[in-house]
Amino acid sequence: MTPKHGQLIYEGKAKRIYETDLDNRVLIEFKNDATAFNALKHEEFEGKGRINCEISAHLFEVLEKAGVPTHYLSREDDCWMLAKHVEIIPLEVVVRNIATGSLCKETPIEQGKELIPPLLDYYFKDDNLGDPLLSEARLERLGVISKKKKLEVEKLSSQINILLKAFFKQLDLTIVDFKLEFGIDKNGQILLSDEISPDTCRIWDQRNSDDKARILDKDRFRKDLGGLVNAYGEVLKRIQGLSSKPHNCS
Ligand code: TMP
Ligand code: ASP
Repeated sequence: MTPKHGQLIYEGKAKRIYETDLDNRVLIEFKNDATAFNALKHEEFEGKGRINCEISAHLFEVLEKAGVPTHYLSREDDCWMLAKHVEIIPLEVVVRNIATGSLCKETPIEQGKELIPPLLDYYFKDDNLGDPLLSEARLERLGVISKKKKLEVEKLSSQINILLKAFFKQLDLTIVDFKLEFGIDKNGQILLSDEISPDTCRIWDQRNSDDKARILDKDRFRKDLGGLVNAYGEVLKRIQGLSSKPHNCS
């Protein structure tokens, strides 16, 4: 069921953001659309919006509990999330634990190499420019984030990585890399925003050593491997399995 919402504020490739009756609250609708290569490739996958909304909600809850401030408030229905209104900082913050994807296309770093310490890359969030990778100097020159907030983003991203690595490990999953977006709320506080889902992460199944079969994220679509909804569903199933297990209080 669609919750009561106001005007559409923003439509992205995988989500729509709506106004609500509540002050400083927005409703986020997770779409079934998947895009890659700056939307050159586009397909709809029945069920993807619901799965990503549920995975994202769960991960935001895990992070909030551990002290990471996020925009997440509640999951309203299958594909809908209530969140705090934020001004998105136009940066995509990518954290990489294992070398793959664009890192291996653009550098001689070997595919599959563990990155110690993890690598943090900034991309400028602008579809018209194709979300370019930024150097530190270009990031500073753009002036989209203060030095103080940049330090905060880096601290939070590293904390989120530690938490996500541990969370996925207990599900026999490896979080290879992921993309984060941060926003600023009405009080000027930085909040983790957007989504964390198999659309925005690379997740490998530790129970499968085949380098294609183990992929449980949007690389299934990027690389034409098929089985996207099943793969995302497997991630959700493992997360749900964890919530139904009795808590170990030791
Ligand atoms: P990359 O290796 O293609 O740079 O991707 C790094 C991570 O960022 C990967 O987990 C997928 C995610 N990502 C997005 O969420 N949105 C994007 O537009 C891109 C290019 C990557
Ligand atoms: N989300 C990006 C796009 O369509 C790319 C990607 O995730 O690979 O354009």
